[in-house]
Amino acid sequence: MSTKIEIKREERTNSNRTKFRKLSREVCGEVCDIPENNYVIFVYEKRPSKVSLIGEISYQFCDLNMDTPGSNFDSEYYSQITFMFIKEDYQLQGIGKKLVENVLNDFKSHDKIRPIRIQSAGRAVGFFEKLGFVKVGNIMETVCGISVFRFMQNMELPITVPT
Ligand SMILES: CC(C)(COP(=O)(O)OP(=O)(O)OC[C@H]1O[C@@H](n2cnc3c(N)ncnc32)[C@H](O)[C@@H]1OP(=O)(O)O)[C@@H](O)C(=O)NCCC(=O)NCCS
Repeated sequence: MSTKIEIKREERTNSNRTKFRKLSREVCGEVCDIPENNYVIFVYEKRPSKVSLIGEISYQFCDLNMDTPGSNFDSEYYSQITFMFIKEDYQLQGIGKKLVENVLNDFKSHDKIRPIRIQSAGRAVGFFEKLGFVKVGNIMETVCGISVFRFMQNMELPITVPT
């Protein structure tokens, strides 16, 4: 039986928001929505008999009208990855890395010189480090009751030289 993986950039529609929330709840027990002004890339596993959603990432482009970053880590001055989830059975198979690479390509076509930011779940820090992100400040314990987001680490992909 042939199985195909499809990676697809989609808009923030109501039906996509529903899909996104459902997978986030399945992966981490928390309902996360695609934030406003964000895009989303979904990963589907396509079998002849069934199409399943197995991964997702939401992200927003930096606001090129802003000249200065301001003091908030999640300032819109920066392009940002906001959420990402890979279904448990499909983790550690390179899908997360592919998703981030797709997003970085999108970011590059928008702006080549501003750092890219993420507020990473503590347990995903090693994943983002493998992709070149570096920690900014120390890990923070949050008041969030959901274990995956209890510890958060600000991270940044440093400025790349324009090519
Ligand atoms: C974290 C997550 C997105 C990673 O996606 P993934 O598809 O499992 O990761 P990949 O297989 O693409 O891994 C790429 C590399 O990172 C490493 N890696 C993956 N997860 C890691 C982790 N949690 N810690 C350290 N390294 C990790 C892999 O071993 C691999 O290394 P390699 O290139 O040397 O082989 C995924 O595991 C997930 O959805 N986790 C639960 C939800 C979550 O934490 N989301 C992040 C919210 S910010």
